[in-house]
Amino acid sequence: MGKLGWTVALLLAVLVGYIWYKPAFDPESLRGARVVVTGCSSGIGEQMAYHYARFGARVIITARREGRLKKVVAKMKDLGAQEAIYVAGDMGKAEDCERTIQTAKEKFGGKLDYLVINHASLSSIKKNGTASLFWDGDMDVMHAEVTNNYYSYIRLASLALPLLHKTNGSLVILGSMSGKIASVFSTFYAGTKFALDGFFSSLRQELAMQDVNVSITYCVIGLVDTEIPDKFEKTFGFLMDLPRASPADCAMAIIRGGAARQREVYYPWKEAWLATKLSSIFPQFFESLTMGIYPKIHEKSILFKENNN
Ligand SMILES: *[C@@H]1O[C@H](CO)[C@@H](O)[C@H](O)[C@H]1NC(C)=O
Ligand SMILES: *[C@@H]1O[C@H](CO)[C@@H](O)[C@H](O)[C@H]1NC(C)=O
Ligand SMILES: *[C@@H]1O[C@H](CO)[C@@H](O)[C@H](O)[C@H]1NC(C)=O
Repeated sequence: MGKLGWTVALLLAVLVGYIWYKPAFDPESLRGARVVVTGCSSGIGEQMAYHYARFGARVIITARREGRLKKVVAKMKDLGAQEAIYVAGDMGKAEDCERTIQTAKEKFGGKLDYLVINHASLSSIKKNGTASLFWDGDMDVMHAEVTNNYYSYIRLASLALPLLHKTNGSLVILGSMSGKIASVFSTFYAGTKFALDGFFSSLRQELAMQDVNVSITYCVIGLVDTEIPDKFEKTFGFLMDLPRASPADCAMAIIRGGAARQREVYYPWKEAWLATKLSSIFPQFFESLTMGIYPKIHEKSILFKENNN
């Protein structure tokens, strides 16, 4: 084989290696681990709670719906959790974030191994049940979105950092493909998910500079079969016709990535990693693609009403 042949072979080997690479993961490392996971009444958060329970961790879960949390905690105990506790609360409220981390402090002796911030609310659905697909300038809705899905992440992380520092722990942030690729009808969502990537990628470096050994994992999650796409579909009457990944598999990928202290987790790999990398090289091609995926929407924009009439 000539030089070119060897180079191509090496590149292919690296690519295949990257695709097949799974970070070293020792399930035993999670036995007795002190974990807080937010947003556990359903979806990916609920499945993470069950996985951590099976690994024998000590887990505090949160969500707004107390009835659901009671059921999840009961199942976690059956699955083998060393401890399973819930805090019912709205992470959009400062006092509920404080109560959650205070509970961790008391139950876990001031130490924490993992904080997994996962909660999400579909703030773009207004109080009267209506919603606008296009950005309509509703700053009340934007305020709710930023409060629930951005500030709360930073508040929880900041409160927990001293506890994580004591154990060289890990902070896991549920981002999204929408935090790497902006597509139509996701102004709210993309805005906060991009912001989370920016904030936590900067913080990761600041911690390293200060010799604080707390890892930060940002998760780039594609379409998963949870309540969020269901609610979107119910509200707007359509959804991208793409396969939805299993919440349980997604939850496991996140837990492994956090335990391996990876910078980022992409799930499902194919969609999330490839699309993210390709879209940064060919942005216009991807924009025309995402605009074309949706059925033609004839809703009149509110911002541009004058022009439409
Ligand atoms: C719903 O609330 C928004 C403001 O949040 C308002 O602009 C809209 O007209 C309301 N729609 C209905 C059908 O009441
Ligand atoms: C945490 O990591 C630092 C290095 O950054 C190391 O010196 C220290 O011993 C570790 N502490 C624990 C509790 O693992
Ligand atoms: C940081 O902590 C982790 C987990 O305890 C450890 O594996 C790693 O070696 C530490 N990093 C440094 C730079 O010491």
